[in-house]
Amino acid sequence: MAKGPDIDLENFWERVLKIHWGIEAVLSALPGELDLNFLAEEKNGAKCILKIMRNDCPEWLIKAQIEAIEHLNYKDPSLKVPKVLKASQGASFIREEDYSGNERLIWLQTFIPGKCYAEIKQKSTSTSFDVGVSLGNMASALADYKNESLVRDFKWNLPGSLWIKNYFSVIENAARLKIISKIVDDFKEILPKLSSLGQQTIHNDPNDYNILISGEKYQSLTVSGIIDFGDICVAPRVCDLSIAGAYIVLNNSEPEKMLAAFVSGYHSVYPLNTEEVDLVWRLLRMRLAVSVVNSTLLASKNPEDAYIIISQAPAWDFLENLNINEGLIKARLRNSCGMPVVEGADRIVDWIKKESNNFSPLCGTNLTNLEIKSLSVENTSVPQDPFELKNDEAKNIGFEITDQTNFWLGYYNEPRLIYTAPAFRLGPWKASNRRTVHIAIDVFADEGTELFAPLEGVVFTAEYRDNQLDYGGVIILKHTTPNNDEFFTLYGHLDPIFLSNLKVGDKIEKGQSFCQLGAPNVNGGWAPHVHFQLALTTDGMEADWPGVADPDDLSFWNSICPNPASLLNLKEIDCLYRPSNKKEVLSDRSKHFGGNLSVSYDEPILISRAWKHHIFDEWGRPYLDAYNNVPHVGHSHPRINQVALDQLNRVNSNTRYLHPSQTKFAKKILSKLPSGFEVCYFVNSGSEANELALRLAQAHSGKKGIITPDEGYFGNTTGALSISAYKFKKPNGVGQADWVEIIEVPDDYRGSFKKDDPDRAIKFANLVDGPIERLNLKGIGLSGFIMETFPSVGGQIIPPKGYLEQVYSKIRKHGGICIADEVQTGLGRLGDYYFGFEFQEVKPDIVVLGKPLGNGHPIGAVITTKEIGESFDNGIEFFSTFGGSNLSCRIGTEVLEIVDEEKLQRNAKEVGDFLISGFNKLKNNFDFIGDVRGMGLFIGIEIIRGDGSEATELCSYIKNKMRDNRILIGSDGPKDNVIKIRPPLTIEIEDAQMLLTTLSEVLEGTLDWA
Ligand SMILES: Cc1ncc(COP(=O)(O)O)c(C=O)c1O
Repeated sequence: MAKGPDIDLENFWERVLKIHWGIEAVLSALPGELDLNFLAEEKNGAKCILKIMRNDCPEWLIKAQIEAIEHLNYKDPSLKVPKVLKASQGASFIREEDYSGNERLIWLQTFIPGKCYAEIKQKSTSTSFDVGVSLGNMASALADYKNESLVRDFKWNLPGSLWIKNYFSVIENAARLKIISKIVDDFKEILPKLSSLGQQTIHNDPNDYNILISGEKYQSLTVSGIIDFGDICVAPRVCDLSIAGAYIVLNNSEPEKMLAAFVSGYHSVYPLNTEEVDLVWRLLRMRLAVSVVNSTLLASKNPEDAYIIISQAPAWDFLENLNINEGLIKARLRNSCGMPVVEGADRIVDWIKKESNNFSPLCGTNLTNLEIKSLSVENTSVPQDPFELKNDEAKNIGFEITDQTNFWLGYYNEPRLIYTAPAFRLGPWKASNRRTVHIAIDVFADEGTELFAPLEGVVFTAEYRDNQLDYGGVIILKHTTPNNDEFFTLYGHLDPIFLSNLKVGDKIEKGQSFCQLGAPNVNGGWAPHVHFQLALTTDGMEADWPGVADPDDLSFWNSICPNPASLLNLKEIDCLYRPSNKKEVLSDRSKHFGGNLSVSYDEPILISRAWKHHIFDEWGRPYLDAYNNVPHVGHSHPRINQVALDQLNRVNSNTRYLHPSQTKFAKKILSKLPSGFEVCYFVNSGSEANELALRLAQAHSGKKGIITPDEGYFGNTTGALSISAYKFKKPNGVGQADWVEIIEVPDDYRGSFKKDDPDRAIKFANLVDGPIERLNLKGIGLSGFIMETFPSVGGQIIPPKGYLEQVYSKIRKHGGICIADEVQTGLGRLGDYYFGFEFQEVKPDIVVLGKPLGNGHPIGAVITTKEIGESFDNGIEFFSTFGGSNLSCRIGTEVLEIVDEEKLQRNAKEVGDFLISGFNKLKNNFDFIGDVRGMGLFIGIEIIRGDGSEATELCSYIKNKMRDNRILIGSDGPKDNVIKIRPPLTIEIEDAQMLLTTLSEVLEGTLDWA
């Protein structure tokens, strides 16, 4: 209804609200197709919804809506539906002429806070489960509300949807018309079944704008209301379920999982039967077809209204890009409700179990005593690159664990990393979900080993799939139980020789030899074995069964392809792989380790394998490692592994004996440092290195006092802790020693002098004057100044240029030594600079190196000048048993060479720049990103509240949400509100893109709470 030029619509109805309900409120219009809806807000903040029905709204419809809502509130006041607010005279609705003189029916409802489901960014299966629960509860309560007038035929009554056939002509796009025609044909097939179902009153329009969602910050979102009863009618309840389902599947990368969670939520409170569950998929598609035809029709009548077309985009997108198989989605929905995936599935499983030990042995001999060997992600290092199984590795799978008898079994439900083709990936990124879990049993034996049918069957498939790493020869047999239930067995990696005498439809007798194991050149390239899989249905898979499943979708795939052990006369439990149990590991850890050992993330990760900048958990789930700086040149670098093994095979001794590896390492480090550095000390850790650096400074200066920035961290040994304000200041910390002076961190975002102050470097540096004086006054004197060149735990701070130059000059003027802790910043991480002090254009007196130097092997190093080395050489031996071992020195040298040869410093620059500019773009979109800072792959993102203060909780939420999305980042800073990103230097642009996209999605999701 167009607003008249001289009428203020809101004012008009505000007056009506005041007269009839005695409520003085300001109205604002809400969207609606036919009726007028207003949000009414009183001065005291109270809100309600004023509904002015369309011009010709029949009285029975408003009465029915009111009755239904009152019925629901009476039956269960906890239902998430609005309440009807009666007018002053006690009426549930009133009549009033509108400004055009038409009589309108008007009523008032309570306001329910929340956002429309359609507008929620981070849709999760837990939210869709809750939508199911809420809808199920409502439908269950509506079941005994009877109203004859609601038995009605109108365009939104799903069983009567065939009306859209009359309007096919409005769909001009031929491909779209084909899609809609198919949906209509499929719908026609289920109509008899649909009309045989019982009927009840249903809401009939739980679309994504009528479901309101809300949630506490950091909690998962739940339904706060289901509104708009305008389409209420009598129909089978599965129509209500399917209508909501039609919107649950939109705009989602995993629509099947969302739908299954939703249906199971409904079923959990208002149990469905299998017939109903089987109808959901076709009904859901029909609802979407009605919706798009209806709006195309509307658009043809209102060509000026672009919104009509735009609003249909998600539905078309879903229908046009649908690659969900009906058979599988039915099975999935049934499984989510705890029903047999297909008719008879439970009987088949029982029968197979009962018949176990009576099946003919697959390989002609009893398999009971065969060893079962693990190819799991936890138990092997094959493939070396979990993103690319090499042909040689495939050919020799299990080679390292087989003995002379090449006859052994591979587990069911075992997560393996050998399935590396992109087809196993379930998303666009390397760290996207991936199918890893083997849902068959393998029998490894010599090529040519004959296979005998465990039971009678008919050939369903007999093919040769000659792609590398495919099945090679593959046979599927169809079997029938005495109960006439059908099931299937698959035999993969066969010699395709069977093709000459087997064809589809052939009968195979129990115990009949029907094929043999193929050699690698015909079996897909694998070590000879048979992949033996059972399936209770092929509906939706036909001959193309997934042999491997997503660990997060295992319950579904296990229900389609259960453990086939019984068919091999083996015990299921023996063939079932169980990875390390994370909960047990965690509980043992808390029993046997000190309580102050922390575990990252609310949901800890059990790391089983790693490669470059990806790690894998016990189920083979990949994670992008954007946090760990220890594996500087990448996790599990083959060159490091090879050098380590080689040196361990030769000799691993200490610095009391001569070995060229030690001097070679020293020369390599010195080649990266400016002239003047001549003496190296090798130790085992950053802590030990800093400890030694303090001793060097004290020996050279003859004084003890140390000045260091606040919030620093230098290690866990007593001396290193004493200078680590990040630790000693904590409530139960050791406190500040009298020989330690702290100065403010040169943080020009949050500190005393901000980015816009051109003199901030000098002003921060001047803060060192007082402490120098204090140390002298105390009679302790100044031995030196130590600083992480870019403070890391302090919040990934980049001190303003010129800062260190000023500080060093003041320190040196008072006889102090300047120590640069380059543990976090050294070795090329910063992209533009090999060391952080280069950016500051200073030359320290002592440089400390640590963790990245060993890529995981414990190494620390202290490098200084000849003079300082001489001051320390006081006749007492310096010896660190493992520091400078032949092994450490070879590894350290190798790390530095890899940084050079793989051009990792340049990579740090390129990927770092890409990330930082991406984070800055995000900063423009999200007010709670206060600052983005960093250099190369040393990056911090400061998360703030509206008032600029530190948003610790939000930062923790983001970190954990990123982990749930398979990306590891950390957090730090005095208030733990700075996201910390410092991946191995191997990270690539593609991974950075994943990080940016995912972070953006996570940040957008936080807007759902608003
Ligand atoms: C800057 C800095 N220095 C020293 C250390 C101590 O090294 P480590 O843990 O190898 O003893 C760390 C450790 O995180 C560090 O970040």
